[in-house]
Amino acid sequence: MSDDTTIQSVLSEDRVFDPPADFAQRSGGAWIESIEQYCELHAQSIADPEAFWGAVAEELHWFKHWEKVVEWQCPDARWFTGGKINACHNCVDRHVDNGFGDQPAIIWEGEPVGDEGPEIRTLTYADMQREVSRFANALKAQGVGRGDVVTLYMGMVPELAIAVLACARIGAPHSVIFGGFSAQSIVDRVEDASSKVVITCDGAWRRGSVVPLKANVDEALTITDVVEQVIVVKRCENDVTMQEGRDHWWHDVTASVEDECPCEEMDSEDMLFLLYTSGSTGKPKGIVHTTGGYLVHTFLTSRYTFNLRHHQDHVYWCTADVGWITGHSYIIYGIMQNGIPSLMYEGAPNHPGPDRFWDICQRHSVTHFYTAPTAIRAFMKWGEEHPRRHDLSKLQVLGTVGEPINPEAWMWYHRVIGHERCPIVDTWWQTETGGHMITPMPAATPTVPGSCTLPFLGIDTAVVDETGEEQPADTGGMLVVRKPWPSMLRGIHGDRQRFIDTYFSAVDGMYFAGDSARRDASGNFWIMGRMDDVINVSGHRLGTMEVESALVSHDAVVEAAVVGMPHEIKGTGIAAFCTLSGDWKPDDALIDTLRAHVAAEIGAIAKPDMIRFTDALPKTRSGKIMRRLLRDVAAGREAAGDMTTLEDFSVLAKLRSDED
Ligand code: WTA
Repeated sequence: MSDDTTIQSVLSEDRVFDPPADFAQRSGGAWIESIEQYCELHAQSIADPEAFWGAVAEELHWFKHWEKVVEWQCPDARWFTGGKINACHNCVDRHVDNGFGDQPAIIWEGEPVGDEGPEIRTLTYADMQREVSRFANALKAQGVGRGDVVTLYMGMVPELAIAVLACARIGAPHSVIFGGFSAQSIVDRVEDASSKVVITCDGAWRRGSVVPLKANVDEALTITDVVEQVIVVKRCENDVTMQEGRDHWWHDVTASVEDECPCEEMDSEDMLFLLYTSGSTGKPKGIVHTTGGYLVHTFLTSRYTFNLRHHQDHVYWCTADVGWITGHSYIIYGIMQNGIPSLMYEGAPNHPGPDRFWDICQRHSVTHFYTAPTAIRAFMKWGEEHPRRHDLSKLQVLGTVGEPINPEAWMWYHRVIGHERCPIVDTWWQTETGGHMITPMPAATPTVPGSCTLPFLGIDTAVVDETGEEQPADTGGMLVVRKPWPSMLRGIHGDRQRFIDTYFSAVDGMYFAGDSARRDASGNFWIMGRMDDVINVSGHRLGTMEVESALVSHDAVVEAAVVGMPHEIKGTGIAAFCTLSGDWKPDDALIDTLRAHVAAEIGAIAKPDMIRFTDALPKTRSGKIMRRLLRDVAAGREAAGDMTTLEDFSVLAKLRSDED
């Protein structure tokens, strides 16, 4: 395999951006001030993880102190064993107890914009304590107790955060399903988790129309009989059918309950939540996260990666949906533990216009902004006049997550959104890792467009071959984590063997992330994509991402997806799907130009064998390009397998019909 993963050609990137000199001053200080300090701390944290993570855990509230920081017997990690803790207490009650009850915890903005602007709700920590306690009592009254999995299938409304924290308060693990998933996905997940209670909304606003969440739940419940109770938040006032005895309105069940509900003293290793994520094949995996370690890790990464500081008028906004791990860790748990106002926006980035995000940033004086490369590429396509119309001068740190960011998108983010004064934190991590694993420290790490740079403190990532041997600089290999970390997954719900096979079988004694990567001579990590996104052209391994970045670096191309396709001579050829910016014509001359451009950027080996122009790329609802479908299109095969997450089926139909 080491041969396979050797990169023959490397997209070269020599732009390096030092942290802005006035960063610490604009942010009221910095937790990690220099690269030297980072290096020293990182070395210490790896040499003595117990001392490092133990000191972080001391900052949280524990009902009972832990006995041991970590017990590790690969693949099983136990963190802060013997400790008793509650996640909701650390996100909410702790701040009220410390006298910050009147500070904003959640700032929520709805999607519809009326004559007086959008609806805005601000919930302080004291409000959250009251609302969460009320809903926790309502759950208890419905018979929900410690250990019962509660499913949340909701829009981005404050009740979603309230429900998440209410579950944590009473020790009932939550399983949040993204509101864009189908009825069948609900069935699969409630059955796998044996979840008897579903919390939903009548509907959710998305680009001006109502997503019928309750109707989807109804449909799911005609297929499965696992679910006994449904609680419904009234949001859009769309028509819904309420089934007597099974369905209850949120406002009814919370009407006559007490305002106070004690936090359950949970064992550090009790399950906090389940979150389903798709694997390369088969049904979605229920990733199990537990309490103490997850809290410690999300607390520290939120603080250091974003340089969040109390009483500095920070307003933090992560644009992800709570249905994904990013929303769990970096809208709710990590951010709220730090006592920083977390902005939640209900709807689409282009409703009512393509400047909605920038309008929000301006009106709420957003200081920390966290989004995904796919969104950034959309903003690029819509044009920089939209952000230019708004005052973005309060921004301090820009984050990105979810997929490798093309250097061109990075530069646009840096220039147009960050006005060249905001460090970009490109955070590599996964549902399974629970929190950030590789990321710059904004005041310390020199950043390079397209690289997620260096491992977080206490994290031992490496690029290795299948024997666990570290690869030399600029040589691709498997991305692994060699030491346990506090927020690592504890298993796949109900499937021990799949847990071992997926994560702990590729390299002995190490967690295998499923990604390929390389490190450059400065030690920076470059994620090349999922292992199955690496293509072997004439015996040379190429990261699809590198070819994509090369294409996108040409003015004509807005977004590109590259997959392998069968090729008589080369074994695998390169197929590229591109969306074009406004004034470019999709003709043969442009194909020649782009092939030459890629050859110039990377080398002749990377020249696409086929370039197809398209209006849009097929994406999952979380914005990831559906490469499996594109591979099928490139190979001229019928697309096979699970398509339930395809955002827009018409994109695929269009790509196909163009072939005819
Ligand atoms: C990819 C999202 C490059 C990667 C938090 C990983 C990234 C998968 C980055 C996890 C990044 C995430 N640079 N690739 N900064 N962040 N990825 O579980 O392939 O939805 O394995 O978690 O996204 O996706 P997941």
